[in-house]
Amino acid sequence: MVTLAHRLRRVAIVFASILGTAYIILVLIALLNYNPRVKIGMPIIVDDAELPGAGTRCKMDPDLGPVKVDIYTKPCMEELERMNPEIQAGGAWKPPNCQSWQKVAIVIPYRDRLGHLKILLRRLHPMLRKQQIAYRIFVVEQAGTDQFNRGRLMNIGYAEAMKEDNFDCFIFHDVDLIPEDDRNVYLCDDQARHLSSAIDEMRYHIMYYNYAGGVIALNRQNVLKVNGYSNDYWGWGNEDDDFSARTLAAGLMLTRPPEHIGRFKMVRHLKADRSNHGNSYFFTWRSRWKNDGINAIKELNYKVVEKTDLPVFTNISVDIGHPPDEKTWNERNKNQESVTMLWFLRFYYP
Ligand code: UDP
Ligand code: BGC
Ligand code: MN
Repeated sequence: MVTLAHRLRRVAIVFASILGTAYIILVLIALLNYNPRVKIGMPIIVDDAELPGAGTRCKMDPDLGPVKVDIYTKPCMEELERMNPEIQAGGAWKPPNCQSWQKVAIVIPYRDRLGHLKILLRRLHPMLRKQQIAYRIFVVEQAGTDQFNRGRLMNIGYAEAMKEDNFDCFIFHDVDLIPEDDRNVYLCDDQARHLSSAIDEMRYHIMYYNYAGGVIALNRQNVLKVNGYSNDYWGWGNEDDDFSARTLAAGLMLTRPPEHIGRFKMVRHLKADRSNHGNSYFFTWRSRWKNDGINAIKELNYKVVEKTDLPVFTNISVDIGHPPDEKTWNERNKNQESVTMLWFLRFYYP
């Protein structure tokens, strides 16, 4: 006769086996996805005591820390100018009494977000001065009404900035992300430094290991090594994933500040829909990355419509060309080799 105790025991055993199996599967998936490419830590500022100019090198202020940021009120341009009398036209500054570590170009892809830009500039200028960074801010504005192309604007920003000065470090920066901690130093290391490791809109956590959107810093050599961004993502989504995949393929790690330092607030805006090609273009990133990037921008025949050294930033308005029509796009993609579904799923593993 089967007693109640017997039955309960059997149920408990079945239940425990299910839980155990699920646990083992999760551990296996985690092992499969163990990702040694991400390194969390503070930036390593080269201790260049032996380099020339060592005696006059700037020192990072040890008292930097978290800051309350305002993402709701918008200053006007004159106010920004008044708040930053020491910066040069074009939005450039360098420490007057010491030698900074790198020359930093901040490249902001932009269209029709003036409010966001003002909020960002109000925060960036004083922060970068406190961090003793030698920098200049480039706002690269897409002219016209075609779908937005964030990657193309980044590449053009790199090329145009290099015409101005021999920058060592490029920080590709969304216009709506406001840094919340002065310890998040705007410098490059020798990897791909993903500065926005904790965005409020993502509940201050990284959504997936390979996420490289928002704000990312690469030195000049590494921008060239990964061949910049793809020029061909029109509309929202995946251009940052493509960039992340390139940095991986180029053998770079993603380095991030710890989540309590890499904090950003995103100025509120409507979420765009993913481009109508969905993820399909990203599937073929590997077969394109060596030819579609910084090395291809000459062929794009982009035109600078206007370049102005405004008091608090350099404005570069560009005609970046048009997206291909559907037929050309399909034709171009037909014979491209694609990554596997497993690769794709692992890429987005949280
Ligand atoms: N952007 C812009 N105007 C646009 C669309 C995008 O200036 O119409 C720039 C801006 O720098 C923005 C970035 O591209 O921060 C990323 O776009 P969005 O903020 O819409 O994407 P999210 O990351 O919030 O999903
Ligand atoms: C998109 C990225 C985006 C990320 C976070 C991904 O699904 O492909 O482009 O940055 O989500 O919103
Ligand atoms: Mn945004």
